Amino acid sequence: MILVDRILGFFSGDVGIDLGTANTLVYVKGQGVVLCEPSVVAIDRATHQVLAVGEEANDITEAMLRYFIRKVHRKSRLVSPRVVIAVPSGITEVEKRAVKDSAERAGARSPVYLVEEPIAAAVGVGLPIHEPSGNMIIDIGGGTTEIAVISLSGIVFSKSIRIAGDELDEAVIGHLKKTYNLMIGERTAEEIKIKIGSAYPMEEETNMEVRGRDILAGLPKTITVTSEEIREALSEPLAAILEAIRIALERTPPELCSDLIERGLILAGGGALLRGLDKLISEETGLPVHIADDPLTAIALGTGRYLSDFRLLKRLAVNSQNSKEY
Ligand SMILES: Nc1ncnc2c1ncn2[C@@H]1O[C@H](COP(=O)(O)OP(=O)(O)OP(=O)(O)O)[C@@H](O)[C@H]1O
Ligand SMILES: [Mg+2]
Repeated sequence: MILVDRILGFFSGDVGIDLGTANTLVYVKGQGVVLCEPSVVAIDRATHQVLAVGEEANDITEAMLRYFIRKVHRKSRLVSPRVVIAVPSGITEVEKRAVKDSAERAGARSPVYLVEEPIAAAVGVGLPIHEPSGNMIIDIGGGTTEIAVISLSGIVFSKSIRIAGDELDEAVIGHLKKTYNLMIGERTAEEIKIKIGSAYPMEEETNMEVRGRDILAGLPKTITVTSEEIREALSEPLAAILEAIRIALERTPPELCSDLIERGLILAGGGALLRGLDKLISEETGLPVHIADDPLTAIALGTGRYLSDFRLLKRLAVNSQNSKEY
């Protein structure tokens, strides 16, 4: 497997992993983010065996994790790497146990540290999470949007919805089907979203040629779509994300709310790169919105900070409730 080969050389050090549904990032202490690859399919190069495919996010997580760490372990038997894994804040005790167990079985040094994604993202973008003031992180990934209010190194409130980048792609697919009887694949939809998609009117609207299959004739067809119509198509899933942000703001304690007015909201995850999304959220909430410097790597960078600050790690790692191994 190419990914594994590429990172084997780096794997002497401790490792931080952000296992997303869309992208997996691996941070190695002293090296930075050494790997950022789609999580879609994991294939063993030797056997050409598909280890895990798309939809089954949980299986992917476990398969990839086991695969990476086992390979590493096999290569270097001297010391097992210390591993920090970022997990969604809503994850159950059973799921936590499963991630830890599979990582440890796969050769990670025990204990494996789990950190909550929003906190890792906040650490990654350099927010002062230890302070009593409030910060809101909105992480728009492929499968989920996670909104969290953080204060004093803890999550005060978090809300997760299964509407994120993939849903935006689906909305593009739905629009072309409905309007032009045109079938396109997920990859084309994502390309349209990235190339001409937007959340807020652009200074210069654009358009793009799209190839697909005519549903009625069954033949290939090319059409031109405009950035305006794509924005319109994206407005429904975006409204759901806005609604979740509104709910999170409603649940934020008043004293932290005033911090948000000052500091604003932080956007992370690949979805943060959608044009004008910061403007839309800012207009809808009346709050300043900042996009993380590199939204795609924020969580992985956060896991990296934990690796170089063991006290931080011990303090912030979430543990299975009934284990005392930290
Ligand atoms: N320039 C861009 N404009 C809009 N969306 C983008 C852009 N670049 C990437 N994306 C989207 O970001 C999403 C992937 O983001 P990210 O890597 O943060 O997800 P993930 O962490 O793997 O997923 P999750 O957090 O849901 O498990 C995809 O839906 C992708 O289409
Ligand atoms: Mg993510």
